[in-house]
Amino acid sequence: MSSLALMRWLEATPERYDAGMRLVTLGRVTALHDAVAAAAAPAPGVEVLEIGCGTGAVTERLLKRGARVTALDQSPDMLEQARKRLAGTKDSGVSWLERTASEIDTLPTGAFDAVVLSLSLSEMSRDERRFVLALARERLRPGGRVVAADEVRSAGAVQRTAQVLMRAPQWLAGWLLAGTVSHVVTDLRTELEAAGLVVQHEQRWLLGTLALFVAGAAEAETCSSS
Ligand SMILES: C[S@@+](CC[C@H](N)C(=O)[O-])C[C@H]1O[C@@H](n2cnc3c(N)ncnc32)[C@H](O)[C@@H]1O
Repeated sequence: MSSLALMRWLEATPERYDAGMRLVTLGRVTALHDAVAAAAAPAPGVEVLEIGCGTGAVTERLLKRGARVTALDQSPDMLEQARKRLAGTKDSGVSWLERTASEIDTLPTGAFDAVVLSLSLSEMSRDERRFVLALARERLRPGGRVVAADEVRSAGAVQRTAQVLMRAPQWLAGWLLAGTVSHVVTDLRTELEAAGLVVQHEQRWLLGTLALFVAGAAEAETCSSS
């Protein structure tokens, strides 16, 4: 994930992406991927739209849980790695799309039980995130959920200082190696709420700097509570 600063460099070499991710998250990415898949596919047969599938770590977990997955990524190299990962396994439940996140506007509305954004929002500008989250919400079936996981700003001053110290070498390496600067999603909860979503569940790792949010459409909340 670019928000962990080495991300762009890791993505430039997708075959080492998974190992690199485990390294920069001190192994927490595995728990995060497990939690994302469990939240998006609590039962078999659900329809999931995955935005920024990368090398398919979450896609694989979703398929194992019996979901049907539309897995989208703008990077042909990452999609190729994802296809390789799932080659030889029962992957008939997946459709791969080489598209940008904003292009989900071409997919039908109200068609998905879950829309997953695992470590991809931090690679988008704030404007793109706003646009994509609104589109994601429109693609949910009634009772559906957006499952968003990413690097966020931690709440406490001590944790924030630790976050800056942890990220500094990663930021420098990313800038030197890839010439790119990554960004934390400062307040993902607020961005989800601004898109008309209601956060139902939150989970954190790595001193609160990696967060998972499960959110449903605001109308669904209103309907169920009235
Ligand atoms: C850090 S990787 C995360 C991959 C995977 N979801 C995971 O959790 O390991 C981010 C992925 O999002 C993709 N991505 C970033 N911005 C995107 C956008 N605007 N549209 C489509 N894909 C995007 C990148 O190509 C990359 O494969």
